Amino acid sequence: MPATIVVGAQWGDEGKGRVADWLASQADVVARFAGGDNAGHTVYVGDEIFKLHLVPSGILHDRVTCVLGNGMVINPVNLVKEIEGLIEAGVPLSPERLHISTRAHIITPAHIALDGASERARGQQAIGTTLRGIGPAYTDKIARRGIRAGQMKDSEDFADSLHRMMEDANQVLADDLRLDVDTLTVEYLKAAERLRPFLRDSSAYLNQRLKENASILCEGAQGTLLDVDHGDYPYVTSSSPTVGGALSGLGIGPCFVERVVGVAKAFSTRVGSGPMPTELDDPIAERLRGTGENFWDEFGTTTGRPRRCGWLDAVAVRYAAQINGFTELVLTKLDILSGFDELKIAIGYIIDGERVASPPATSAELERATPIYETLPGWSEDIRATRDWVALPDAARRYVERIETLVDVPVRTLSVGPEREQLIHR
Ligand code: GDP
Ligand code: IMO
Ligand code: MG
Repeated sequence: MPATIVVGAQWGDEGKGRVADWLASQADVVARFAGGDNAGHTVYVGDEIFKLHLVPSGILHDRVTCVLGNGMVINPVNLVKEIEGLIEAGVPLSPERLHISTRAHIITPAHIALDGASERARGQQAIGTTLRGIGPAYTDKIARRGIRAGQMKDSEDFADSLHRMMEDANQVLADDLRLDVDTLTVEYLKAAERLRPFLRDSSAYLNQRLKENASILCEGAQGTLLDVDHGDYPYVTSSSPTVGGALSGLGIGPCFVERVVGVAKAFSTRVGSGPMPTELDDPIAERLRGTGENFWDEFGTTTGRPRRCGWLDAVAVRYAAQINGFTELVLTKLDILSGFDELKIAIGYIIDGERVASPPATSAELERATPIYETLPGWSEDIRATRDWVALPDAARRYVERIETLVDVPVRTLSVGPEREQLIHR
């Protein structure tokens, strides 16, 4: 039976957790395939706000089994904290419901320290990473000196590998970043012991479930413009958060994929450095961002940093649709656009006097891009309680239809608030 892949169509934080929570209600298994605890997926259930970093959003549906795939990088200490936090919040969570791929890679304290050191060394050119050790962990994986999660089964082997990696890092780290190798090894061994029952060959599990006709939801993290191959290099993350990454990050074949759901926010946000052609620094941006008073305001789920905000960039979303082959789009936070007299959408860029219709390959070129805007009428009505497409204000429908045309993908679902029911299906 089918697999559905959920992918961010912008720079992350599009509302993938919220969308995965909705789609998980129709799934048997929900699997994360890329990234690590750089992700922050917010799901609002009843009166409770869950901020998930490593555990898939499907965990909030009792009948769903969750998988942390081989494409992920996992900080065992933070994963234990997240698991304990969920159990404390009353979420049933056992090794029967959560599987950690033995082939996922481990984020060690060395990776976190090296992430910090690298950002510091870059100075003005810092990427603005989440400082979770993501880049160094993937670097070690590709350089064939990483630690696989399966090594946590053998304490001696795991301790040796950790020790060696941290000692190596200490050779290059400045004094203030140097690691207390023995204490950290003990902490990691304790986490490994807690996680051991959760370890398994997750690709074998997923393929078995697919054979049994189970429905698998692949929950993407980050976003297409942060992809190491397709994003605004070097201002990207170090993984493949796009559709190809879902297949290699879970070890399943493309024949199972039935839907590729792109999640796009009704405007643009970005956290961290790098080009963002439609970024605004004015009262409009402030209004899109919110004050931080509401949990859905534009402040990072993982780092608390204010997100950069601006008008919707249809060039970026159309590019994401091309990279991923979206079969449908979910447009989130449409409610936030209520009350603007007019709305703008970037439909192309001018770079060095020339009109371009898709993002250039270098971030230097994209930094020089001036957006070409199309202006549409806004609407004043509060749409948070609307559940019908036809009940939306004309201008809201026109805005959505214009996006559909520009991106050339049907917008099948609209989100008009963070709550489970605040969805409009067309
Ligand atoms: P993710 O990383 O893609 O899962 O997104 P985040 O959770 O980091 O950020 C999205 C934020 O927007 C969260 O606080 C969500 O609760 C919130 N959110 C999602 N959809 C909507 C929506 O339609 N309206 C509003 N107001 N908030 C939303
Ligand atoms: P979710 O899943 C938004 C950004 C960082 C930085 C760049 C590299 O919640 O959408 P990294 O720590 O990965 O090396 O940082 O990528 N970034 C995200 N931005 N949402 C995320 O995840 C992100 N994960 C990484 O801000 O610019
Ligand atoms: Mg997020």
